[in-house]
Amino acid sequence: MRTPQRGRGGGGGGTGCGGRGRGRGGTKKAKGLESESEGGIKGGSKVLVAPHRHAGVFIAKSKRDALATKNLVPGELVYNEKRIFAQKEDRSTVEYRIWNHHRSKLAAAINIGVDNIWIKPGLKVLYLGASSGYTVSHVSDIVGPEGCVYAVEHSHICGKDLMNMAEKRENVVPIIEDARHPAKYRMLVGMVDIIFSDVNQPDQATIMALNASYFLKSGGHFMTSINAKGIDSTSSAETVYQKEVEKLQMEDLRATELLVLDTWEGDHACIFGGYRLPRKQKS
Ligand SMILES: C[S@@+](CC[C@H](N)C(=O)[O-])C[C@H]1O[C@@H](n2cnc3c(N)ncnc32)[C@H](O)[C@@H]1O
Repeated sequence: MRTPQRGRGGGGGGTGCGGRGRGRGGTKKAKGLESESEGGIKGGSKVLVAPHRHAGVFIAKSKRDALATKNLVPGELVYNEKRIFAQKEDRSTVEYRIWNHHRSKLAAAINIGVDNIWIKPGLKVLYLGASSGYTVSHVSDIVGPEGCVYAVEHSHICGKDLMNMAEKRENVVPIIEDARHPAKYRMLVGMVDIIFSDVNQPDQATIMALNASYFLKSGGHFMTSINAKGIDSTSSAETVYQKEVEKLQMEDLRATELLVLDTWEGDHACIFGGYRLPRKQKS
């Protein structure tokens, strides 16, 4: 496994329904330009956009670079995020949505420099702990029209926003169920390439293992976030991270990378890895 990395992450999450900075939910029709700036980028502006080394992720170039994804549904916003435009050679424009790494652990992991997010255009993702759909919407942008995101959320309040968002995003399948009972949604979910879990529960390794046994392809990948205090407030964060790695390993979920999200509220980390990997394959 790649040695634990410390780095700058971001806040948010862990509080249910999107954590702090939750948007108003549902898909919003874009209403002209926005006034705030992020990474020195004004919403609605034309900026230089370059592909990130993770396929489907982009960098909006400005005073401070910002992460962005190409909007699957141009003109539609999900949570009042900023959108920017890049001009193509034929003078047509492409619309991107800025992805705030203070509100998404996946974006924070990318910002820190995770080796591989495994989520790519065209792949199928099972997302546990979808909340109102903040990160789900960016994963939906990344996998694009050929991919699919099965988004599981047990709160009916968050679920409403998630369902509204999925009405506009045809590659998102919202599932309002408890991720502890995958049998209840097995008719809706096919085999997936990746499971992404952000449920913030003490038994989250068991939840991941159970869902992997139902839906994850052998040789597929997973990512799970860890809020150390939420799992065991009496042990050090490092001990909790290590124990989670061991619990996953027992279920044939082999960790390949552990990233500590240092500046996230409390002690948070992300574990990335593979499922039923052949012995010699490292990732
Ligand atoms: C940290 S928030 C997720 C934030 C979200 N991933 C994002 O980046 O926008 C955790 C979410 O998991 C949901 N959750 C917790 N336990 C769950 C379970 N057993 N089944 C489904 N959802 C669960 C909570 O309701 C909450 O919305």
